[in-house]
Amino acid sequence: MRVLLLNGSPREKGCTYTALAEVAKAINDEGIETTIFHIGNKAVQGCIDCRACKDSLRCIFNDDHVNEAITLLTKADGLVVGSPVYFAGPCGALCSFLDRMFYLKHHLYAYKPAAAVVNCRRGGASSAFDRLNKYFTIANMPVISSQYWNSTHGTTVQEVLQDLEGLQTMRTLGRNMAWMLKGLTIAAEDIDLPRPEQPRQRTNFIR
Ligand SMILES: Cc1cc2nc3c(=O)[nH]c(=O)nc-3n(C[C@H](O)[C@H](O)[C@H](O)COP(=O)(O)O)c2cc1C
Repeated sequence: MRVLLLNGSPREKGCTYTALAEVAKAINDEGIETTIFHIGNKAVQGCIDCRACKDSLRCIFNDDHVNEAITLLTKADGLVVGSPVYFAGPCGALCSFLDRMFYLKHHLYAYKPAAAVVNCRRGGASSAFDRLNKYFTIANMPVISSQYWNSTHGTTVQEVLQDLEGLQTMRTLGRNMAWMLKGLTIAAEDIDLPRPEQPRQRTNFIR
């Protein structure tokens, strides 16, 4: 089993990475493999709603790592998304990345447990955390929780390492993720995945 951890910070080995690494270590300690994948620090094109991905299940833009991440998550068993907090939300590049990764393709990720992790200097962690959870809760992905909302605090790695409660929250999240993955593996032997209703209803306005 493998969990994909997406690092949405432009700083590859900064605070968000430190938080994700703590989650990854707790998952590894439970015998489950992890991949920490950095989205990079180049410009990330936003979704242009061309809908070409509906059939191809690939994004038409190939000059960043979105398609690689789609492949990695399709093969992975679970997902953790990490972001620095920018103006009380996830950073913009990561939102563009996830918009293109999830739009019209989120059925590829159904029933894979997921969690969000955010790092901030001081404020806005909860609203950034809420925004990231929206990707999972429209995708039939069970959301894994921890002992507190998943955030660490600091602007340097050294500061994050002093956030003992934040780091413990990350470790608890990692263990909860591993527990859920092991439980789902056992459950899969006897319990079918839920069957979606057909046809899928889409009312763009209520009449
Ligand atoms: C554009 C920008 C906006 C930011 N907005 C916030 C904010 O709203 N609240 C906050 O506490 N920190 C804010 N910060 C600080 C970052 O959250 C912090 O530097 C970051 O989480 C460090 O993580 P990293 O090393 O992974 O990038 C902001 C930083 C930048 C660059």
